[in-house]
Amino acid sequence: MRILRLTAVALLLACAFHVSAAELYHEPFRPQFHFTPERNWMNDPNGMVFFKGEYHLFYQYNPFGDKWGHMSWGHAVSRDLVHWEHLPVALPEENGVMIFSGSAVVDWKNTSGFGQDGAPPLVAIYTGHYTKRPLQNQHIAYSTDRGRTWTKFSGNPVLDIGEKDFRDPKVFWHEPTRRWVMAVAWPVKRNVRFYASPNLKQWTHLSDFGPTGSTNGIWECPDLFPVRLEGKPGESKWVLIVNVGSGAPAGGSGCQYFVGDFDGTRFTLDEASQLPLWADYGRDFYAAVSWSDIPKHDGRRLWIGWMSNWEYAGVVPTSPWRSAMSLPRELLLRRVDEGFRLLQTPVRELRKLRSQHVRNRGGTVDEIAQWLRQKNVRGAQLEIDVDFEVRGAAAFGLKVRQGNGEETVIRCEPASQRLFLDRARSGKTDFHAKFPGIYEAPLRVREGGVRLQVFVDTSSVEVFANDGEAVLTSLVLPVSSSSGLEVWGTETGPKVRRFDIWKLRSVWREYGSGRRSGMATTSLPFIFLTAKGEKLDVRAGMSLGADDYCLVRGMDDKARSAELHSAVSQNCILRGVSQSEYAGTCRRPAD
Ligand code: FRU
Repeated sequence: MRILRLTAVALLLACAFHVSAAELYHEPFRPQFHFTPERNWMNDPNGMVFFKGEYHLFYQYNPFGDKWGHMSWGHAVSRDLVHWEHLPVALPEENGVMIFSGSAVVDWKNTSGFGQDGAPPLVAIYTGHYTKRPLQNQHIAYSTDRGRTWTKFSGNPVLDIGEKDFRDPKVFWHEPTRRWVMAVAWPVKRNVRFYASPNLKQWTHLSDFGPTGSTNGIWECPDLFPVRLEGKPGESKWVLIVNVGSGAPAGGSGCQYFVGDFDGTRFTLDEASQLPLWADYGRDFYAAVSWSDIPKHDGRRLWIGWMSNWEYAGVVPTSPWRSAMSLPRELLLRRVDEGFRLLQTPVRELRKLRSQHVRNRGGTVDEIAQWLRQKNVRGAQLEIDVDFEVRGAAAFGLKVRQGNGEETVIRCEPASQRLFLDRARSGKTDFHAKFPGIYEAPLRVREGGVRLQVFVDTSSVEVFANDGEAVLTSLVLPVSSSSGLEVWGTETGPKVRRFDIWKLRSVWREYGSGRRSGMATTSLPFIFLTAKGEKLDVRAGMSLGADDYCLVRGMDDKARSAELHSAVSQNCILRGVSQSEYAGTCRRPAD
């Protein structure tokens, strides 16, 4: 066991130092304003919760490599949903139990009793996946230090139906019935089960929903929340999110939703619902779930998805990390003739990344195309916002990440009322036969027009049409100099009413410089001291005493470099890593 651990730590260190901290976030294909872990494999977003000014983002993470495995919860926090600070692994795989997807809440009334000194605890509710037998059940863990350290509940599991597949609990406080409600997936049955609890520890079955809608693939990662209606202050409807492992419109995994009502016990679908409904028609938006505890005065429903697809996620050629999150998005519901449709728009906080701006107040497609050439508008990190006036049935659109024979084509087709994203020649596509392709979404022309908001990053394109009524999220892997932008259409086709383009700044470029933006735990100015005040050399494979506890203090620059790498050792879990506190602990890992 000990040898295994030493090997694992040695391997980890070897991988960790292959790319130096200075090179991190400058690698080819590294997203510049999307969240990625420094290194290694990531899938679903987990445990998103807002607490004391911080948005927490946990995520499915393999601390040991760039393939799925050893699933644990990685962790990052942000004060603005744009700049992220990496924190140590929050919930590691332990004792043959992997930490699968789940959620986190602020237990404001301390119903769980985990709170201390009158302060509410954070409670995470996640699936325990047993590696030595076919079993998944629900567990909880808590934190009383703003999510910096976590303790797994000794009474785990808190919900067990003896099933091999039973996962991804999403919990929220239901005020009218004054109890916690959990939505959790029974994947192979294609249903979502609802449970209630007074204290997050004892759960009673309430009802089941499904199978209905898209049932080809297994059901995973549900969420249930009210969403405000566009243009109707104070009105909302309940939306049930069900991510499906396969059978999505673009192929592979995707995210469907249902609109209806929830009475505290049962979710009922609106009669008018046409099923299935899809949140995103692109290839790369999965396991999307929402933030808990967004303050009332803010009132937004915010979520984020994993920007990949189970069909090829394991071979996307990026290193030393694998997978990014989508942009965080705000949700609204729009009433249309056929019922309700989810609207998604990237959060307004992203506007702070806007730098150089060019605007055109309208013209024909040819005029705008010429203007783009004159201005030499190009970039691998862009926000584009364009209003087209539709005239006739001819197709029109944009090309982004163009150059070197590469392009990603966005195509609006008023005749067929469809929007397309074509990444067949977008750059590197040959790593998986199912990666290249053309994907399509329904497109409703509104008031004679189509608005396209497009976010282009190093290795992704997200298209939001008509305020996010149709969304296409897509990975693309062009070379960095393929940064051209074009508008296209026929002369008798559409007119452009307005065209805005911003270059977007990187949220990671300051990485490792000690600035808050993208600051890494591996480059924090920390020194480790034992409780007795002796300096501690944290080395691979070292054993700390069970109560070993080391204060971490600020230090001068010269001494810093020697300490930087120590934090990645599996043996060391930092506590209280904010720069202002400079305090931490080292803990002996459980065997
Ligand atoms: C969805 C999923 C979840 C599971 C997790 C494991 O992508 O399969 O159902 O909890 O990934 O990593």
